[in-house]
Amino acid sequence: MGCADCHTPRQHTSPDAAELLANQTFFPFTDLLLHDMGPELSDAVGEGGATPSEWRTPPLWGLGLILQRSDDARLLHDGRASTFHEAILWHGGEALDARRRYEALSPAEQEALVHFLGRL
Ligand code: HEC
Repeated sequence: MGCADCHTPRQHTSPDAAELLANQTFFPFTDLLLHDMGPELSDAVGEGGATPSEWRTPPLWGLGLILQRSDDARLLHDGRASTFHEAILWHGGEALDARRRYEALSPAEQEALVHFLGRL
């Protein structure tokens, strides 16, 4: 689908990090990088060195629990989405191809992906 191009499942800490944190493998589902998400997610205000449509890939781990435990949990930088499905449909720019692949899935396949995201 291409989601993992940005929501990179696995990261490994540097051997030069503090002793307890060095050489650790963890699974945040983010590359920690900025991406141009297109006009869909542009809010007309640049922050720091980022343009108005650039956002850092958020980690997906634990998001399912947050959505499960809170009635008013919101997704994306301005909280405009309240479900994984909605959040994916707002993806544009560098993520447009991934969104289109998601849109081309059958409802059952979309549900399976959303179910997977809820278990991270
Ligand atoms: C080009 C990089 C890129 C690709 C490809 C991509 N995403 Fe994202 N994703 C992002 C960025 C950046 C954000 C944050 C956007 C914002 O905050 O407005 C995000 C936000 C999200 C969120 C909301 C997370 C939160 O904490 O608010 C979900 C869920 C998500 N993506 C799932 C997916 C899925 C599923 C796919 C594949 C169909 C996908 N993404 C493909 C970069 C990407």
